[in-house]
Amino acid sequence: MPRERLSVVVTRRLPEVVETRLSELFNVRLRDDDTPMSRDELAAALREADVLVPTLNDRIDAGLLAQAGERLRLIANYGAGVDHIDVATARQRGILVSNTPGVLTDDTADMTMALILAVTRRIPEGLAVMQKNEWTGWAPTALLGGRVGGRRLGILGMGRIGQAVARRASAFGMQIHYHNRRRLRPEVEDALEATWWDSLDQMIARMDVISVNCPSTPSTFHLMNARRLKLMKPSGVIVNTSRGEVIDENALTRMIRAGEIAGAGLDVYEHGTQVNPRLRELPNVVLLPHMGSATLEGRIEMGEKVIINIKTFADGHRPPDQVVP
Ligand code: DGY
Repeated sequence: MPRERLSVVVTRRLPEVVETRLSELFNVRLRDDDTPMSRDELAAALREADVLVPTLNDRIDAGLLAQAGERLRLIANYGAGVDHIDVATARQRGILVSNTPGVLTDDTADMTMALILAVTRRIPEGLAVMQKNEWTGWAPTALLGGRVGGRRLGILGMGRIGQAVARRASAFGMQIHYHNRRRLRPEVEDALEATWWDSLDQMIARMDVISVNCPSTPSTFHLMNARRLKLMKPSGVIVNTSRGEVIDENALTRMIRAGEIAGAGLDVYEHGTQVNPRLRELPNVVLLPHMGSATLEGRIEMGEKVIINIKTFADGHRPPDQVVP
């Protein structure tokens, strides 16, 4: 089918330049309000599209895929994580899935560093003092945080983003450690000056800061469960810019409240927008609304990747970022 007749349904508002480019190239239906589609709307979109462009807000499970139309051939996800899509079922039904890896690596790694610094240097507490107009001047003991330089950082998941975090943290003088299913090649490990831990438990027990950078899969669900969180040093801090499901949020909340963990910086949550209310009350917890990749540049590049994936598919080839279950 000629590209311009390909019916592409986009489930969420995208940056204007991306929407314009999509409209120039394909027969696109854009979303005009900035809310996620309901399940019924999503089912209708799956019935009418040749290509669906969803975001992480759209849960595309086996039940929904069963309602997809015969014509649906590609789900070109606007985002890197595909834990919201049942990729295996899509494949069984002959539907390809692609994503947008690489272009949000640096932005997410920057945000990881921002969270590490915000928690260890107590930035939100300082901000609150200024916003409440409570500052009475410099004081030798006011708002003392911890120095990041020299601290041991344990990166959980050493893919693209984990490695980008390692490079940044290293520049801040942190010592880099990591746990990953597969050990990095020696030359990559050397370049990052990173120490690999086969045992996640042993790594956790020795780190000052843990950074979660692994995807959400059945095997990473609650990887940081109550037992592992208990292994952390009481002075330890944990940050997560990956997916909330990797940490048992209730256990984390309990332990921070009990002073068993010193602090946390979270950009993602186990139950999406339903953030444990007790987390919000804690001064040593910094919460962000999933904005790790939120730069205009990054979001445009994500759109460019979506377009390349659709174009390549329309030209009869395998999308460059096809996700294999
Ligand atoms: C992704 O693309 O999966 C990111 O989480 C978006 O920030």
